[in-house]
Amino acid sequence: MASMPIAVDRAGKFEKVCGILDLHARRPARLIPILQAIQHEYQYLPEEVLTYVATSLDVPPARVFGVATFYAHFALVPKGKHVIRMCDGTACHVKQSIPVLEALHAKLGTSENCKTTPDMMFTVETVACLGACGLAPVVVIDEQVYGQITPERAVALVDEIKAQEALLQGASANEAGQPSAEASHV
Ligand code: FES
Repeated sequence: MASMPIAVDRAGKFEKVCGILDLHARRPARLIPILQAIQHEYQYLPEEVLTYVATSLDVPPARVFGVATFYAHFALVPKGKHVIRMCDGTACHVKQSIPVLEALHAKLGTSENCKTTPDMMFTVETVACLGACGLAPVVVIDEQVYGQITPERAVALVDEIKAQEALLQGASANEAGQPSAEASHV
């Protein structure tokens, strides 16, 4: 499961980014794996981090931004906690991927132009062939592949995630409201 988007920790002075850069010996040739690791950390590539990477690697910012915008895998805007990737390759399209996509957008209030829910919980995007055409139509939710997906099943999966999130939030609220075991013995 993807983690919540994390704000860049200015106070930490890009501590995590520094760690990633050090791991790759600050070699410009390692730019792509560096960006992959940063995206894994932040769920996207914050602009200020890209600038910092360019300075740290001593390469022009245009090169870093060029790589970040060239590969579809990289995201320059934050994504939701749960990323839903609907395949719209040829096989999936023929097997009715669009009705599934429309059902997801209707369920979540998202659209082609507004892919992420306001609460940053879900992002719905389309992708080219996922390489599982035999299972068409295919949707990937948080790296889990679902084949022969229908609009009803897709909506049910979203409901399952929402129910899990509600449980998590309930548990967090309970924890916050409960005195700790240590405190309760004082
Ligand atoms: S077209 Fe969807 S997995 Fe290939």
